[in-house]
Amino acid sequence: MAEIGHSDLKYNEMLKKKIEKLKKKRNACIIAHNYQRDEIQDIADISGDSLALSQAAIRTDADVIVFCGVTFMAESASILNPTKTVLLPVLEAGCPLADMITVEKLRAKKKEYPEAAVVCYVNSSAGVKAESDISCTSSNAIEVVRSLSKAQIIFVPDKNLGRYVQAQVPEKEMILWEGFCPTHIRLQEEDVIRCKLLHPEAEVVAHPECNPDVLELADHTCSTGGMFKYVKTSKSDEFIICTESGMLYKLQKDNPGKRFYLPTTHLVCASMKLTTLGWVAHALENMVYEIKVPPEVAEKAKKTLEEMLQVTGEKQGAAIAGY
Ligand code: 13P
Repeated sequence: MAEIGHSDLKYNEMLKKKIEKLKKKRNACIIAHNYQRDEIQDIADISGDSLALSQAAIRTDADVIVFCGVTFMAESASILNPTKTVLLPVLEAGCPLADMITVEKLRAKKKEYPEAAVVCYVNSSAGVKAESDISCTSSNAIEVVRSLSKAQIIFVPDKNLGRYVQAQVPEKEMILWEGFCPTHIRLQEEDVIRCKLLHPEAEVVAHPECNPDVLELADHTCSTGGMFKYVKTSKSDEFIICTESGMLYKLQKDNPGKRFYLPTTHLVCASMKLTTLGWVAHALENMVYEIKVPPEVAEKAKKTLEEMLQVTGEKQGAAIAGY
């Protein structure tokens, strides 16, 4: 994050106090994805990867969930927990990857492969989830695909995650969608090689949304939540982190004795950075923007999320470790 001056710090402190007060008034909890701005991660009651956040949404006893993330994440929280009010502080915080598939296009693909099961990455709309058999996140995609009895799988919408899963589950035939995360694909093999030359002892840890040549260079591939667990247990003191830049703040905070490097400064998801303290205060003050999924879509989409949670052995309300 850019350096901020004294008056900005004072303003942020004022906003944090305001948010604290409003949280109590609304009986709200703040859930934030690991890619959020540093100051948002600081005020979050729970931060984590997509799977952890879905689980957190189920088990919270707050009346209001302020979801600091992108639309599909808030939609999942609302689908899994329809009695709660789920607020997305910035309505424009979408996911370009999720927008790379539509319900109509998925229906057409299903007609082409009538025998295939459809696995949809959570980075997709509620409508696309409703058209699928099961959802997955980057932390359980391999397990989910392995769990299916069908030999042929339509995997949507991230082709890099799909390719990564295919390599681990060669017994399945995976039909991949041509979607990608515009942030992760910006990371080039040369960026990682250059960073490795500067830090030869560092382990390379990559998100499966990265390009295959980047994943080839990785010592470990996992979800953002998996990265926190991995660096804690690894004997290494230095890590090259191949995912969105927001990860570095908490990795460094939680592991003060270790060092973390980004291979390029281009790893910034603009949508994730739209949420600021000001917008969180605005959301709580005005109870905006409520994310609601039409019941007929929500019901079907919920099934695919619950199927996924069952595969990972998580029952509704189960306690989970952070991140
Ligand atoms: P994680 O589930 O690993 O946090 O990934 C979410 C995401 O959107 C990656 O771009």
